[in-house]
Amino acid sequence: MNKGCGEIRASDIGSTITIHGWTNRRRDHGGLIFIDLRDRSGVVQVVFNPEIDAEIHKTAHEIRNEYVLEAKGEVRKRPEGTENLLIATGQVEIIARELTILNECKPLPFMVEDETDASEFLRLKHRYLDLRRPIIQKNIILRHETTKVIREYLNSQGFLDIETPVLTKSTPEGARDYLVPSRTNPGHFYALPQSPQLFKQILMVSGFEKYYQIVKCFRDEDLRADRQPEFTQVDLEMSFVKREDVMTMVEDMMKKVFMDVLGTELKEPFQRLTYNEVLDRFGTDKPDLRFSLELKDVGDIVKDSSFKVFLGALSDGGRVKGINAKGLADYSRKELDDLTDEVKTFGAKGLAWIKIKNGFESPIAKFFPEQTLKLIAKKLEAEEGDLLLFVADKERIVNDSLARLRNEFGKRLNLIKDDMYNFLWVTDFPLFEWNDEEKRYEAMHHPFTSPMEEDMELFLKGGNESIPKLRAQAYDIVLNGYEIGGGSIRIYKKEVQDKMFELLNISSEDANSKFGFLLEALEYGAPPHGGLALGLDRLVMILAGVQSIRDVIAFPKTQKAVCPLSNAPSTVDEKQLKELNIKLDIVE
Ligand code: AMO
Ligand code: AMP
Repeated sequence: MNKGCGEIRASDIGSTITIHGWTNRRRDHGGLIFIDLRDRSGVVQVVFNPEIDAEIHKTAHEIRNEYVLEAKGEVRKRPEGTENLLIATGQVEIIARELTILNECKPLPFMVEDETDASEFLRLKHRYLDLRRPIIQKNIILRHETTKVIREYLNSQGFLDIETPVLTKSTPEGARDYLVPSRTNPGHFYALPQSPQLFKQILMVSGFEKYYQIVKCFRDEDLRADRQPEFTQVDLEMSFVKREDVMTMVEDMMKKVFMDVLGTELKEPFQRLTYNEVLDRFGTDKPDLRFSLELKDVGDIVKDSSFKVFLGALSDGGRVKGINAKGLADYSRKELDDLTDEVKTFGAKGLAWIKIKNGFESPIAKFFPEQTLKLIAKKLEAEEGDLLLFVADKERIVNDSLARLRNEFGKRLNLIKDDMYNFLWVTDFPLFEWNDEEKRYEAMHHPFTSPMEEDMELFLKGGNESIPKLRAQAYDIVLNGYEIGGGSIRIYKKEVQDKMFELLNISSEDANSKFGFLLEALEYGAPPHGGLALGLDRLVMILAGVQSIRDVIAFPKTQKAVCPLSNAPSTVDEKQLKELNIKLDIVE
């Protein structure tokens, strides 16, 4: 009988079993040698007794950590008092009768166990060893289970899994492209897809009215814990749907994933808030709704003060908002300075504070009449012992700074419980977003996103002054403070798409050279359509309860977009470059 190491139970007692695996640990106890043999199902104890077989007992002496073994023997109940209740196989052990060392293992760069102090670089360099650690194996298996449930769900709903090209033309998702030179077309480049956006829309024009794909996407952007240069989307698109249909379907799919993977029942329907509302209340379009701790606008109240910092921000069209750090009125000068440094990284010029401590204790209290301080305290629902923090600046800086502090206090005040999953749909995004660096408007989601029906007339009339007022039929799905997906109802009429480019100041030549193939397809009977893409890595990260998507990707890249295992990216032969008609001129 063949069984996984971790699958052997008391019900197997008396049977003879062959197992394969890696040596987790060897212990010599006088005459007896114990080996914990491990495979992905778990660990089992194998006993080598010189009185039963002196030969294999001798072989067992040579075994070191991570040697690969085949062992055969009888499953026996462990002697009274030697059971290990911490492991599933802890009632039994295998008395070895046969042993083959299938392979040896060099001394290890780090131990294959859950707890490790090895650096991430070393772990990624020897990722094959790192992936043997049960804690990481669990994540990879969970990822498999998640994609399995997603596929089953989408298949059952009549979605077709259709592949789209990887060597393609760049699609505008806002990041830099990864380019691939074409040998057969000198001077020409493919782009790796930032998403299959244009192709999935074309599939709708082709009549495949429900499409999905679990697909790699590539974006050359600054990396963080929740961003990789190549990542995976659950990409989907549907024809003849409204925003509601896409959102309901995705909610239903999420319910199934959480039930089948974690056994967790999600309350339906998910909360929905408009973009303006989330920004107002939480300072970010991906708020963590596991706790409240909302931001409060005190602009109306403080305009009667004499505090120049606040008044200046207001008269420049900015905002003054605050947050109540409950019960933290005892924070030291140093702690307040550290928080100030934190908000300065978002461009804030300072952080004003008021402690509620037998009245109002604050360096800025003198600028405010008592009545105003009381109104501020009321607005922030302050009580004795609270610490109120304020930022005055441009709206963006105020929101970014306080959203950061909100997350920080969520943690410091222990407001976040494990195993809480708070989903949120953010809707009614602006259609356009101002790019301050390039001094121009760009599409907030992407230029194929439809304006809201209610705004269509204004859009088509479209002078520049209407641009900030226009809203998009776009929606993001947010879970515990992470944007785990986003999508929209698309433009499917040529004249609407043309207007979009006009408002974006993209000439028709430019539009045609970039995405002419989609624009032309729209003229051949394009159905109304829309869809969404989930960031699979982020979803699995949350399901696995880990802090980085690197922990749920078998072979991730580092912060510098390097793979320490394969050493990619690397230089290439002169000959390869020549074939590609490429000459390097590296500017340091
Ligand atoms: P979007 O650009 O919002 O939409 O991407 C969809 C989701 O993909 C995840 N994601 C990432 N995950 C890891 N690393 C990255 N670098 C990264 N970038 C994005 C996020 C995000 O919500 N074509 C549209 C979808 C559509 O309109 O249907 C698109 O790609 O979780
Ligand atoms: P100052 O008048 O510069 O000494 O600042 C008085 C207090 O206001 C200090 O605690 C500063 O950190 C804070 N402060 C300065 N600029 C801002 C700002 N833009 N928003 C909020 N607080 C600020």
